[in-house]
Amino acid sequence: MDGTGSAIATMPPMSSGSQRIGILTGGGDCPGLNAVIRAVTKHFLRCGVEIIGIEDGFLGLIEGRYRPLHYDDVSSILAVGGTILGSSNKANPRHFATATDEQGQPIWADVTEQCLGHVEKARLDGLVVIGGDGTLACAMPFVEAGIPCIGIPKTIDNDVVGTDVSFGYSTAVQVVSDAIDRLRTTADSHHRTLVVEVMGRNAGWIALQGGLSGGADVILIPERPFTVSKVIDKIERRRLRGRRSTIVVVSEGARPRGGGQMVRAVDPTSPDPIKYGGIAAWIADEIGMHSTVEARNVVLGHLQRGGTPVAFDRVLATRFGNHAAKLWESGVRNRMVAIQGDKMVDVALDESAGKQRLVPAKHELIDAARAVWTDFGD
Ligand code: F6P
Repeated sequence: MDGTGSAIATMPPMSSGSQRIGILTGGGDCPGLNAVIRAVTKHFLRCGVEIIGIEDGFLGLIEGRYRPLHYDDVSSILAVGGTILGSSNKANPRHFATATDEQGQPIWADVTEQCLGHVEKARLDGLVVIGGDGTLACAMPFVEAGIPCIGIPKTIDNDVVGTDVSFGYSTAVQVVSDAIDRLRTTADSHHRTLVVEVMGRNAGWIALQGGLSGGADVILIPERPFTVSKVIDKIERRRLRGRRSTIVVVSEGARPRGGGQMVRAVDPTSPDPIKYGGIAAWIADEIGMHSTVEARNVVLGHLQRGGTPVAFDRVLATRFGNHAAKLWESGVRNRMVAIQGDKMVDVALDESAGKQRLVPAKHELIDAARAVWTDFGD
């Protein structure tokens, strides 16, 4: 048993030669996925393991779409955003929309057996599953069916339980920081308040760290419900002190005290069906209605997920990939690689299933933000 009480499956250490491992990237993409595919593939190629790239996450396993990965496929992709394998956030094999009925509603089926058929056809000895909590949970039926898996956490939201940080997050934070730098100059020119909506789902990490690094005046996160009047007070206090602009960074999942989160869409075919959005526009309207301040809103959206990973994410993805391949090599199975402090560790594969790593009520980043007079509207 490990520290979490889960059984760690172990196999005899790998000899070499005859093994074939499938690799897939599932859920929303993020910068660093190619870096991790490169690291896993290069490591395995050196020890003579064949690596099979499964296309579009678990969708490729459902539909039987996969291809061998060679050195040339993964050379020169370290700095490239997205994923060369493609991804899908609509492909949970246990709950897959196979068609739609006459009312346009999805018809659900458990297609795990179909996937297992493709695993057998591809002669896969195991899977490396790169994803967030939803994708990692999708690996469990394969583990139960005797297909060993190694998980690698990824998400810009930084909300995977068991690891201090996921790759993709630092790049998203950098995008937010750069955006604030740009927005500050135009906001200053026009004496405006700019409300910047960032991703993160129910976790406020991107808003917190992005806002802190951009010097935001107000940071609103899902973990701390806010009051619009407090945001307006802050803007007014800044005006009295001669400040020309105010930057408010708001997490897409933030909500006013006593109110709900703003849902942009519900996609029942996705393991993460709720899509948040619209909170920045709402706050800007409220500021306009209840003060004389001119407010605008900007939604950074998928800009935070695209493009080249920052150095930290390239290194973290490479370390995760290397650690995952080393675990497999040494016979460890059904674990997720993680970083705790600065140490590469591994935790139970289902550690993060159904859980989210949220910003705690007391956190040093919140103290640091308050110390530089940043408000949380709470
Ligand atoms: O989980 C990553 C993420 O980018 C969230 O921050 C965001 O809420 C969601 O995915 C957006 O999903 P989609 O790309 O399906 O709109």
